[in-house]
Amino acid sequence: MGRDVIIALDFPGMAETEAFLSQFTGRKPFVKIGMELYYAEGPAAVKRLKEMGHKIFLDLKLHDIPTTVKKAMKVLSNLDVDMCNLHAAGTRAMMEAALEGLTRPDGTRPILLAVTQLTSTDEERMQKELLIPHTVAEVVESYAANAAAAGLDGVVCSPLEAKLVKERCGKDFWTVTPGIRFADGDVGDQKRITTPELAREFSDYIVVGRPITAAEDPVAAYERCVREFCD
Ligand code: C5P
Repeated sequence: MGRDVIIALDFPGMAETEAFLSQFTGRKPFVKIGMELYYAEGPAAVKRLKEMGHKIFLDLKLHDIPTTVKKAMKVLSNLDVDMCNLHAAGTRAMMEAALEGLTRPDGTRPILLAVTQLTSTDEERMQKELLIPHTVAEVVESYAANAAAAGLDGVVCSPLEAKLVKERCGKDFWTVTPGIRFADGDVGDQKRITTPELAREFSDYIVVGRPITAAEDPVAAYERCVREFCD
């Protein structure tokens, strides 16, 4: 797998998802199934999108006690997704347990990423509500280092923090970055954002939702992302 654009399929069900994807004739974009679609349709959504030929990032952001996460990851591993994730805030013990659960008897497993701080959380909220008395950059760097130490493949972080992660954890430690907006587009509820073009330098994958799904011409918006990020 290499540099790519992942479309966040934040739709209420498979009918809407398939209608959306039917516009991409002859193309099979890498897609992300998030909580909304998964909770609505379950494993059937994963199976259907696999059958349709898409690579899948299953974005369920697990965060629970290590044993529970390990067992849940074992179930997800059988779904044969390409990538999945958890919250680094669950601690290194949870991340190690997750990797164990995810690894199949033949030693293969999906890519496992850790969410550092959500790109919708700004520093003030993090400090005042979560009582974390550090900068977002410090927290992201430290969580990424924990994820690397636990043996994970990379992190989900803001494109603005991807450079820091690469510096701390090495260039082969993946950075997958949501919070992408076109220079002339709507920001929505995302706070720590950048453009596909600026994400190029330190992101391995970008995750793009509304700038593509809510665009008047989603295929053109996807192609613009690919042009600005991959080419
Ligand atoms: O519509 P938008 O481009 O903001 O969608 C971003 C997607 O990435 C959403 O599906 C959101 O759940 C996900 N995401 C995020 N921040 C993270 C991890 C995932 O925005 N840290």
